Amino acid sequence: MREFEGYIGVFDSGVGGISVLKALAQELPHENFLFFGDSANAPYGDKGPAAVTRLSRRIVESMLEDGCKAIVIACNTATSAAAATLRSAWPHVPIIGIEPALKPAARTFDNRRILVMATAATLKLEKFHDLALHWGSNSQIVPLACPGLADLVETGELDSDEMHAYLREHLGEYRAEVDAVVLGCTHYSFIKRQIREVMGDVPLFDGIWGTAHQLRRKLAEHDLLAPERGGGAIQFRSSIAGRAQVDLYRRLYSLPAD
Ligand code: DGL
Repeated sequence: MREFEGYIGVFDSGVGGISVLKALAQELPHENFLFFGDSANAPYGDKGPAAVTRLSRRIVESMLEDGCKAIVIACNTATSAAAATLRSAWPHVPIIGIEPALKPAARTFDNRRILVMATAATLKLEKFHDLALHWGSNSQIVPLACPGLADLVETGELDSDEMHAYLREHLGEYRAEVDAVVLGCTHYSFIKRQIREVMGDVPLFDGIWGTAHQLRRKLAEHDLLAPERGGGAIQFRSSIAGRAQVDLYRRLYSLPAD
């Protein structure tokens, strides 16, 4: 029996994917999850697609060797850069990604201005261009790369002076200028309250619940859903050795939802 036989492997460049993991575990309480944060290599958002694909491939390989039955790429950047390559390398494994939630935002706010916060890499890649082309015919999509913001979340100091200053500096000019904000990086889902402090009472969209529902659908399609008893184990692993990093992951996992 391999160490994580039948688990669902969930990974991100670092802590951001924990915001996705929470929804996955809530949606599928009888599944077991292995979370891997590649914090030693974060951020992915400043890297090119080949480097992100290489890192993602290595993580998926090791999760599958450990017995995981499905993979969730809990990172918009890695999904955009690597999902297609991973799916063709492992065509029989359900591999679910996350994408900036333009679709629900544009459906709710037809003909309005939608700010999309994401990493520079996500905004450069084809997936975002396709989404913006498709949904931008009804709405005005305003892309905003946020270099350095995932790194601030990665420290776990979500209310630092630096965090608040960053958000004021980068988002301040959009207050009252947009009708909705898409959080196109899983790290940003940890700072919804802080973003609202700058942006006011604007609706925030992320792809987290869409990903959780998609995971359920894919597991059902592959006949891989766990029986409705037991399960509920969540294991955290990091590319940074030592307890402190995993303790940070656990602390973020137990934060109340904003
Ligand atoms: N959490 C990742 C995402 O959703 C990216 C953060 C990073 O730059 O590493 O895009």
